[in-house]
Amino acid sequence: MPFLEDTQIDFSSFHPEQLIELSYISQSTNDIGILGLMNLLESAVHRNKRSGVTGVLFYDNGVFGQILEGSPLAIAPIWASICADHRHKDIEVLDIDKLPKRRFSNWSMKFYGSEEISKYVPELKMGLKDGSTTLPREILTLMRSVSNGTNAHVDQFQGGQTGA
Ligand SMILES: Cc1cc2nc3c(=O)[nH]c(=O)nc-3n(C[C@H](O)[C@H](O)[C@H](O)COP(=O)(O)O)c2cc1C
Repeated sequence: MPFLEDTQIDFSSFHPEQLIELSYISQSTNDIGILGLMNLLESAVHRNKRSGVTGVLFYDNGVFGQILEGSPLAIAPIWASICADHRHKDIEVLDIDKLPKRRFSNWSMKFYGSEEISKYVPELKMGLKDGSTTLPREILTLMRSVSNGTNAHVDQFQGGQTGA
């Protein structure tokens, strides 16, 4: 699906139980800080676990990047909360599409902070910083690149393992 202009998503264009992937970048409204991030992650992990949603969240220098995976039925209410959340703004959807198989099946929400991004996906640092100049497709490819099996550091602590 091409680059989308806003956060209005027509989830009804998918079968309610079809597995989908939704990705976006956004700007944090304040300097969220480590405690703020931990808070956010904790509630995200709990709700995602209850809803059968998996994915990855990146945060670096005031910019979030996230991939959510699950059914439209599960993702739609979480997306509504995310869009209404004042901790971030300028949400830019990168893509929404059907997904044959979860990439982050073991993670209710895998987290990459600044250090992990520098270490494992340094190219993404520039992508997040330069969101408007880097192609959405490239940012998405970099975000996906940390998924299960595509690299060898899945067992380090990044919070929110599903235990599946
Ligand atoms: C960048 C960002 C990513 C978030 N990711 C998730 C997420 O994956 N799952 C989730 O349930 N909430 C996530 N949240 C938090 C939701 O916005 C919301 O606070 C939480 O789901 C509780 O929902 P409620 O306030 O409507 O009860 C995220 C918030 C931000 C700012």
